Amino acid sequence: MTFKRYAAALALALFGGAAGAAEITIACGSVGADVEICRTLMKEWTARTGNQVRIFVTPNSSTDQLALYRQQFGAKSDEVDVLMVDVVWPGIIKEHLLDLTPYAKGVQKEHFPAIIANNTVGGKLLAMPWFTDAGLLFYRKDLLDKYHEPVPATWSALTAAARKIQDGERKAGNPDMQGYLYEGKAYEGLSCNALEWIASSGGGTIVDASGKITVNNAAAAQALDLAATWPGTIAPKNVSSFAEEEARNIFQNGNAVFMRNWSYPWTLAQRADSKVKGKIGVAVLPHGANGKSVAALGGWQLAVSKYSRQPALAADLVMFLTSKEMQKKRALLVGSLPTYPALYRDPEVLKAAPYFASVVEAFNTAVARPSTVTADKYNAVSSALWNTASATLAGRVKGAAAVQQLEKDLIKVRRGPRW
Ligand code: GLC
Repeated sequence: MTFKRYAAALALALFGGAAGAAEITIACGSVGADVEICRTLMKEWTARTGNQVRIFVTPNSSTDQLALYRQQFGAKSDEVDVLMVDVVWPGIIKEHLLDLTPYAKGVQKEHFPAIIANNTVGGKLLAMPWFTDAGLLFYRKDLLDKYHEPVPATWSALTAAARKIQDGERKAGNPDMQGYLYEGKAYEGLSCNALEWIASSGGGTIVDASGKITVNNAAAAQALDLAATWPGTIAPKNVSSFAEEEARNIFQNGNAVFMRNWSYPWTLAQRADSKVKGKIGVAVLPHGANGKSVAALGGWQLAVSKYSRQPALAADLVMFLTSKEMQKKRALLVGSLPTYPALYRDPEVLKAAPYFASVVEAFNTAVARPSTVTADKYNAVSSALWNTASATLAGRVKGAAAVQQLEKDLIKVRRGPRW
């Protein structure tokens, strides 16, 4: 008998198995305060059920996480029981997730119907919504005031204001000041940015809801050409290696005027160790000359791996964490956006997150990535998009040639008349 087994047998003998006290492993992200909030909420579940939780820390890029899970699923690994699922994944990993319908017991009706629809594939509820999100423009109120600049409504206004304030601040003694930060690395985050640039310039959503490939158009090409002027001018050259956290760290250290990010930096920027506490504002993202503001729709769900050896217990943890009570706690502690419409009317939630008003406005401009229509091919679609955007930002190709090539790449990914 190994020591581990001996210890387990001893515990069983002593505590009668503590009514079968078990351990569940959850992968719950590593962006911002993800791990911190996971620990806090897990303690509550442990206190209520006696079961333990092990936190499996994942890479912070959504693309790297997906690759890791696909490896684990391929090996039918039982290492992770509960995992966080990006809003664009249900169609990609549907075969590996447990149908949660029997465990949800109707609570799904209290969430935003669009998210439940997104998480339901072939009639199976594969993931419970945990929080939702949208792309936002963060800005330095103090600097816009100092330079008498309004919050920019268009991408060209943002380009000009970022340049003016960045140059002014550099002259005034801060050589590290940057104008605009965003997710420029070749991964899912860049696809979100590129979709926002293109859709907000009237260039469509790359692939439309009927499955048609729409990206090869002049508005899309122009949007990419404007973005290509940013690296090395208003954005650092190495923005091509930035995901959410790289952008947030610089912004929170006081070294950027504008930043595109999701909602999570807001609460972190208000903490005592933040250099921009009380100095920032949030607005909807700018738009192109012939378009209107667009926010990529983000957000995460919790799901149970089909290979979990404790599916019922894992599902219990998912239902607990995604409950209205825990989502409220999450909103109060880290400002994440609940998936229960009722919580947006909760006075305590609104008081803790005064920026929710801007966020609700961003939701009105939200556009989904084409993940439902392209289903299991979405990751290939997105990777074609981020590679195209990345090549354009690096100056290797101009917008018009880039969107033409992207159309060809997407036709190859589709392989046939339908997705
Ligand atoms: C955020 C969003 C998610 C998106 C990811 C891209 O985590 O919630 O939907 O895919 O960013 O980096």
